[in-house]
Amino acid sequence: MGKNNNFKMIAKTLHGFEAILEKELIALGASKIETGVRNVSFEGDDGFMYKANLNLRTAIKIIKPLFEFRVRNQDDLYKQMYALNLEHYLDVDQSFAIDTTLATDLFSHSLFVSQKAKDAIVDKFRKQTGRRPSVDLKNPTIKFNLHIQRNHCTLSLDSSGRSLHHRGYRTATNIAPINEVLAAGILLLSGWDGRGHFLDPMCGSGTFLIEAAMIACNIPANINRKGFAFEKWKDFDEELYKKIVEVSLNKVKEFHYSITGYDKAPSAVRKAIDNVENANLTEYINVEQASFFDSKKQTEGPLHMVFNPPYGERLSIDMEEFYAKIGDTLKQSYPGTQAWMISSNLEALKHVGLKTSRKIKLFNSQLESRLVCYDMYQGSKKAKQQD
Ligand SMILES: C[S@@+](CC[C@H](N)C(=O)[O-])C[C@H]1O[C@@H](n2cnc3c(N)ncnc32)[C@H](O)[C@@H]1O
Repeated sequence: MGKNNNFKMIAKTLHGFEAILEKELIALGASKIETGVRNVSFEGDDGFMYKANLNLRTAIKIIKPLFEFRVRNQDDLYKQMYALNLEHYLDVDQSFAIDTTLATDLFSHSLFVSQKAKDAIVDKFRKQTGRRPSVDLKNPTIKFNLHIQRNHCTLSLDSSGRSLHHRGYRTATNIAPINEVLAAGILLLSGWDGRGHFLDPMCGSGTFLIEAAMIACNIPANINRKGFAFEKWKDFDEELYKKIVEVSLNKVKEFHYSITGYDKAPSAVRKAIDNVENANLTEYINVEQASFFDSKKQTEGPLHMVFNPPYGERLSIDMEEFYAKIGDTLKQSYPGTQAWMISSNLEALKHVGLKTSRKIKLFNSQLESRLVCYDMYQGSKKAKQQD
């Protein structure tokens, strides 16, 4: 039997995406998968950690637990941190940061805990080498994650670095774009698998279009990313990483339908086209300046529609009218369409006036939102009116 170099990892995700993240991990070949709240833990080796960072669409970050210990108070935390041997993971010449998450009554401020833990690490290095690693909160070489649950402390290495929603294809924008992980998760929840035509009728900077094309073509979610934290680790195996990239890219497949975006704002259309170019997806995605309300279904066969309309003010009459118009347009001009949309304007959603076939609670940043689905039937089976 070969040597088992597997270790535990935890992939963090957004509320409501645990089951699809689990599915993604199964498809990638993870072992010992356990689903938690906004996270899924699993086991794999270094190669699998590279593969997971490169491919997972619904993970925000992947951490690797290193040490577990119990703490009673801040002095104890300092002592326990001081006792750890971190030279295997951190060089005195490297910069580092500690990100703390708390689920305990023992401490109330995560920044304070990070500070204490950092002091212990720095003091230990100074004692042993006469020098100390520097702290860089913005762009650290090594990023630790300290999680305290009741009196149970876990120190992990963050293998991703910046959140994995930084896919690398988006240029700066003044439009409020949807988070890429949220967009990918919504597409997977909606059942989008690339077998049909796709439309985002209010595409903004084009996030749904790009994530939809990447899913359809099986392109690794983070192939355009600038880098991952694990590339700076002492044990980084560059050859193995290159191999993982190559094997992942070999699984890319052709897509034979259309992916179209509309937006009424010329600036959004320009931005979407830029981003599509950055993602090298121009051959699959077409963006047009158009108002959804003046449009009609252009393609034969079933159409998969996913979008996030403007949310506006909670009690705005304009928004109610706007959402009513969405319902009218779907009803009159989009037969044979499965339309999914996410909004945090729960009042306005009621004015769409169509019966939902699915309703899923999600969060867009901090805003409680609903992902809803309307099935617009073809021909005689008319769209159902809201009860
Ligand atoms: C919340 S943003 C969508 C953000 C987008 N998902 C992204 O990731 O960038 C809503 C978009 O709807 C567009 N919009 C508003 N009314 C529209 C209409 N009648 N037809 C098409 N687009 C419209 C706005 O210009 C804006 O770009």
